[in-house]
Amino acid sequence: MKVGVLISGRGSNLRSLIAATREPGFPAEIVIVISNKPDAPGLEVARAAGIPTQVVNHKDYPTREAFDAELDAALRRAGIELICSAGFMRILSDGFVESWRDRQLNIHPSLLPAFKGLRVHERVLEAGCRITGCTVHFVRAAMDEGPIVAQVAVPVLEGDTPDMLADRVLEAEHKLYPLALKLVASGRARVVNERVEISGGSG
Ligand code: GRF
Repeated sequence: MKVGVLISGRGSNLRSLIAATREPGFPAEIVIVISNKPDAPGLEVARAAGIPTQVVNHKDYPTREAFDAELDAALRRAGIELICSAGFMRILSDGFVESWRDRQLNIHPSLLPAFKGLRVHERVLEAGCRITGCTVHFVRAAMDEGPIVAQVAVPVLEGDTPDMLADRVLEAEHKLYPLALKLVASGRARVVNERVEISGGSG
């Protein structure tokens, strides 16, 4: 399955997806990486791995719809069957999300539906949570909503700062996203009545 990865920044999840998809027998390959930011360090991660990159700079487009149309065109030109958003910091229009329905994944650094949005780790600590984690889900129009493919729980430890917690969650993200992509790309994870059903296999 041909995958396009959307990024805006560092690209550490992209790096883990590249490594996983290059394992023998992995059911997906990353054929394009698109960033809305021209200086995203993740672009260099892709280039170093020999993966084609493209910048679709949101600042070059007068409206969200115009930006989304170019993003959509770039993905279709590349023959993409599944989008993985990995630290992509733009809200996509309803039309875009709908046309990629059940064909777009996102990773979020909390146990959704708790702590949608930004400043996740600060808010987890403020709330006094003892456990947090990360989630890979299919994308829907509402931010950080959609059928959940996979989650990992991560402990909050005494004395954690938001950065310490972010690092611990990020390590879990790097394991989770490849696993979730494998489930979806192999056809084992499917959306049925807005929930993900996982079928067959043992691993
Ligand atoms: C990750 O924590 C991801 O969950 C969030 O943004 C961060 C992106 O990090 N949406 P990276 O660019 O993959 O390193």
